[in-house]
Amino acid sequence: MDVVRSLEAFRRLRRSWPDQGPEVCLVPTMGALHAGHLSLVEAARKRSDRVVASIFVNPTQFAPGEDFERYPRPLDRDLKELERLGVGAVLVPEACEMYPAGHRTQVLVEGLGRKLCGLSRPTHFQGVATVVLKLFHLVRPRAAFFGQKDAQQSILIRRIVRDLDLDVEVVVCPTVREQDGLAVSSRNRYLSPEERKAAPVLFRSLQWARREVARGERRAPVLLAGVQRCLGAEARVRVDYVALVDPVDLEPVDRLEGKSLLALAAFIGTTRLIDNTWLIP
Ligand code: PAJ
Repeated sequence: MDVVRSLEAFRRLRRSWPDQGPEVCLVPTMGALHAGHLSLVEAARKRSDRVVASIFVNPTQFAPGEDFERYPRPLDRDLKELERLGVGAVLVPEACEMYPAGHRTQVLVEGLGRKLCGLSRPTHFQGVATVVLKLFHLVRPRAAFFGQKDAQQSILIRRIVRDLDLDVEVVVCPTVREQDGLAVSSRNRYLSPEERKAAPVLFRSLQWARREVARGERRAPVLLAGVQRCLGAEARVRVDYVALVDPVDLEPVDRLEGKSLLALAAFIGTTRLIDNTWLIP
């Protein structure tokens, strides 16, 4: 497995891969790899013998006061896992090379980045969009793999691909969960034992909504109030948002008429967790 830290060295490696060779598949990550990340790598490996993973804790998608400094960085362990899964190359760029002095260009996906998580993290998706577009240019993948856990991120990236005519297939893989339903996340490790016990309420509240839809409920306000009620049963949970939106523009829906995204974010103690599910009438 090639572990490449400099962008020029990566470009050189990339140029050595023939166009007729295996499809290049990219799995972008911030490291601290867990079962969710590994499921993306596995999906990419099923498709191709030439999988590139990137590990980069992207500073521009963290706001001041968020967890950039304390974000876990177990690089050696991550590299071992990627090697075990048969990844061909890992790009581990330095921030000073990704964002050299004077870097000013930002990718702004009008509207989409300011909804849902963008309300409380207004600069986050600009940071994500910019770094993902840079990675696409460096790696030139045929397909890139993302997780449904970060639904808004996947929707935003699909939109960039469409709007900028990128020749990249965006593959979105299902959310990997712990046995009790909690979506696997690098941030789960910040939870105290009591908070960890409370955390599956996020998934339970989504499950409640799915059951109501299966029983015929279509009114968004009823579904949203019910989810809020489920979450409210846990004293440690403070809701950031619960929203039912259309899957393209993330506009709120009043009635469930087509496939819609039920997404939520909540603080448990000081840790902010997200989760989502599709609701299909
Ligand atoms: P990171 O949080 O490391 O996640 C990398 C990828 O793993 C994302 O596509 C995310 O949706 C996916 N993922 C995380 N938890 C998952 C789970 N439980 N099940 C399935 N997939 C899961 O997302 C980012 O990094 C960054 O924003 C990045 C795209 C790398 C840009 O910096």
